[in-house]
Amino acid sequence: MVNILIVYHSQTGKTKKMAEAVARGANSIENVRTILKEAMETTLDDLCSCDGLAIGSPEYFGYMAGAIKDLFDRTYYQVRGRKEIFKKPYVVFISAGNDGLGALRSIERICIGYQFKKVYEPVIARGEVDEDILTVCEELGKVIAAGCEAGIY
Ligand SMILES: Cc1cc2nc3c(=O)[nH]c(=O)nc-3n(C[C@H](O)[C@H](O)[C@H](O)COP(=O)(O)O)c2cc1C
Repeated sequence: MVNILIVYHSQTGKTKKMAEAVARGANSIENVRTILKEAMETTLDDLCSCDGLAIGSPEYFGYMAGAIKDLFDRTYYQVRGRKEIFKKPYVVFISAGNDGLGALRSIERICIGYQFKKVYEPVIARGEVDEDILTVCEELGKVIAAGCEAGIY
């Protein structure tokens, strides 16, 4: 089995809806197990043991949500240099009021420090999270899961 971690933060539910759509997409791939978790509940072991991950955040003040940053802050020293983390495939999805690029860039910058490998273009929802965005999120889940399952990353 291939394990895909979908880690997110959400206060008003938009990023959560996107995370659930990513999980639906990932779950549609055979031999894939999906772990859907709030960032505050996500542990070092979750990060190390997954085969690929999707990170979802609202944009807060031009940056990622504090809960996502907290996950990085809590785990950085322990993961540094560990081979389970090196080139781990990841994708990002963002929910924003009107921009989202600040949140995206802040996550991507930290992922460079973790030596994760970005494997697909991010999804940014601006304003309402509608069916079109959810379909794109499902695609994102399929891409990370199918790629990990096939071992192409
Ligand atoms: C404290 C706070 C700061 C925010 N800052 C931004 C921002 O800088 N740029 C932006 O586009 N939206 C900003 N927003 C709007 C949220 O990113 C947006 O409503 C998002 O969809 C919320 O996601 P959620 O429903 O998963 O909580 C902010 C919202 C809050 C609560």
